[in-house]
Amino acid sequence: MDKTSHVTEELYKKNLELAERNKTLSLLRKIDEIILSSVTDIDQIAHQIADAAVAGAGFKAVYIMLINKKEKLLIPQAVSLDKSTIEIDSSLIRAIYSLKVNLNDSDNLIIKTINERKLQKTDKMYDLFKSLLTEEACKKIQQSAAMKLFHIYPLVIRSEPIGAIIVCPKEQVEPFFVFQEDLIQRLPNVVSIAIDNALLYQKIDQANTRLKELDKLKDEFVSLASHELRTPLTAIKSYLWMVLNQSKNIDPQIRSYLDIASQETEHLIKLVQNMLTISKIESQRLELTLKNLDLYEMVKLAYDTLKINADEKHIIFTLLPYPEKLIVNGDKEKISEIFENIIGNAIKYTPENGTVSIHFTTEKNKVIIHVADSGPGIAKENMAKLFQKFSRLEEGKQNRTPGTGLGLYISKQIVELHKGSIKVESEAGKGTTFTVHLPLAQTNS
Ligand SMILES: Nc1ncnc2c1ncn2[C@@H]1O[C@H](COP(=O)(O)OP(=O)(O)OP(=O)(O)O)[C@@H](O)[C@H]1O
Ligand SMILES: [Mg+2]
Repeated sequence: MDKTSHVTEELYKKNLELAERNKTLSLLRKIDEIILSSVTDIDQIAHQIADAAVAGAGFKAVYIMLINKKEKLLIPQAVSLDKSTIEIDSSLIRAIYSLKVNLNDSDNLIIKTINERKLQKTDKMYDLFKSLLTEEACKKIQQSAAMKLFHIYPLVIRSEPIGAIIVCPKEQVEPFFVFQEDLIQRLPNVVSIAIDNALLYQKIDQANTRLKELDKLKDEFVSLASHELRTPLTAIKSYLWMVLNQSKNIDPQIRSYLDIASQETEHLIKLVQNMLTISKIESQRLELTLKNLDLYEMVKLAYDTLKINADEKHIIFTLLPYPEKLIVNGDKEKISEIFENIIGNAIKYTPENGTVSIHFTTEKNKVIIHVADSGPGIAKENMAKLFQKFSRLEEGKQNRTPGTGLGLYISKQIVELHKGSIKVESEAGKGTTFTVHLPLAQTNS
């Protein structure tokens, strides 16, 4: 009989132990959930953890304090008190939040914990608030809340102290207090991780906001500078044109200087225009005026404009019509810009007596415009650079062809705004083929 009651007692104890262990695990899981939740505000995280610890582990009180390096203070972040044993007096809570400890106050036990990075225990609340409260006041609070013991743990992340957590356990409940102790040992680590997470998020969020502001400033600056530059540049171009075309007796040397000045002004105007377009695209201010367009007509326009350049270089320049009408819904000016650049590039980079040919194909609901040249081709390692801003593959070459290195970047952005794409196939020395893929408009015919 004696033996049976002993076994029953053992079983009962084990059962309680298990229940206690279970509590610890579910509290740690709860804190995990808080860390992984969408809440990123440090104040809310600290409060949720303190509340979870008090409710889940049966502590009397949990108090989280964080270091403010700038103010050299240890500041209360969250306080949670067990409502069933402590009468919550809002003036007491307010008083606790106003207790900021100076980091140089080495007499204070919390500061000592942080400095030594070691657990401290005390049965005197006065040790926590020396120099802020009188011993008498501390005793009173302690008595009225029946707080017997305080465990103070440093909160440390990557060897840097970030604050402290103070846990006030309930009176000892033999023999399972050992698990509460186990939990208290693990709590500071999870709390540190949670707080660190929130701090990092806060930093990233602030940096992100700053970057967005800077980006906006940059866009505004580029836009303003481009507008301001355009007017004087256009005036210079017009006067140079007048001098070159209306004065007959210009010294040939001076004429060649003026020619260079005129070309460079042209280059600057193009650069300013491209920068303005890019600033609009990147700040999503580029608006498209969509209309149904006859694609062959559009390409023919670019062909006619560029024919003179091809003829100058004795390039065989061909445009093969497509047997059917190809209608795309697009912005006339912007689409023209794409073809002028891609066909313009083919002529610009193909040496004399080469060939440039354009033809169309269709595939499902899209049209593909092929622009093939017999130029120098593009090496594989340079392909990725092609569509980046200011990418000029001829960098460093002598007699390089003029250009801003922005044409393909802009073309790609515009094509993508039309829900299309640009592809390139090339082999160094064997010419290049650019293909522009655009969705065909839904027409009723
Ligand atoms: N058909 C081509 N054959 C060989 N290289 C090309 C061809 N098209 C483009 N490239 C290379 O890609 C670079 C980028 O072209 P992109 O059109 O963006 O700029 P760009 O022609 O130099 O200047 P712009 O802004 O005046 O168009 C060119 O500088 C050139 O080195
Ligand atoms: Mg170009």
